[in-house]
Amino acid sequence: MLGSGKGSNFVAIADAVAAGKIPAQIAIVLSDVENSGILAHARERNLPAQFIPPGKFRTKLDEDAERAFVKALQDAKVDLIVLAGFMRVLKGDFLRAFEGRIVNVHPSLLPSFPGLESWKQALDHGVKVTGCTVHFVDAGIDAGAIIDQQTVPVLDNDTAESLHQRIHAAEHELYPKCVAAIARGEIAVQGRKVIWKK
Ligand code: GAR
Repeated sequence: MLGSGKGSNFVAIADAVAAGKIPAQIAIVLSDVENSGILAHARERNLPAQFIPPGKFRTKLDEDAERAFVKALQDAKVDLIVLAGFMRVLKGDFLRAFEGRIVNVHPSLLPSFPGLESWKQALDHGVKVTGCTVHFVDAGIDAGAIIDQQTVPVLDNDTAESLHQRIHAAEHELYPKCVAAIARGEIAVQGRKVIWKK
């Protein structure tokens, strides 16, 4: 798993693995942020956790960093890469190394509000319903095939903070469910469409 922040989605997935709800193991946790919550949570659970410096760019990994991430993931023999609040865009060599095997959670109903602070974008736009999306990662920004989505109503008295909290709670239900389905081989990808076989 890869993340840059608090790691609450990591916790939801690690708890689901520990409870036997996801037939998989978390092989390694990597972060581009040294003091991130996700690394702390992983270490509390005695899982391999590693900080890899991202290099000179702000929104992507530089070449050395990309190579180091790919090597760490290949050495850990991962089958699936789960992005949980990883705030850098993955590019060419990384995507090619793990094509079709990277998933992400995003805090909006894609294709609405890609990019940063999507809950704020939703609030500012005045939509009545937003939510979260789990999707495969491709070369676009928050653009790959959608695995599943969960809606969250926008309330009249919502602040960015209160809406973000409810979206987070929805992510913690949706993401483990999607990862479990992938681990069980229950989803098939047909172009942009993801079919749930069960
Ligand atoms: C989540 O809300 C996730 O959807 C978002 O970062 C948060 C990470 O929270 N990801 C993105 O915006 C990616 N474009 P967490 O560290 O508590 O799991």
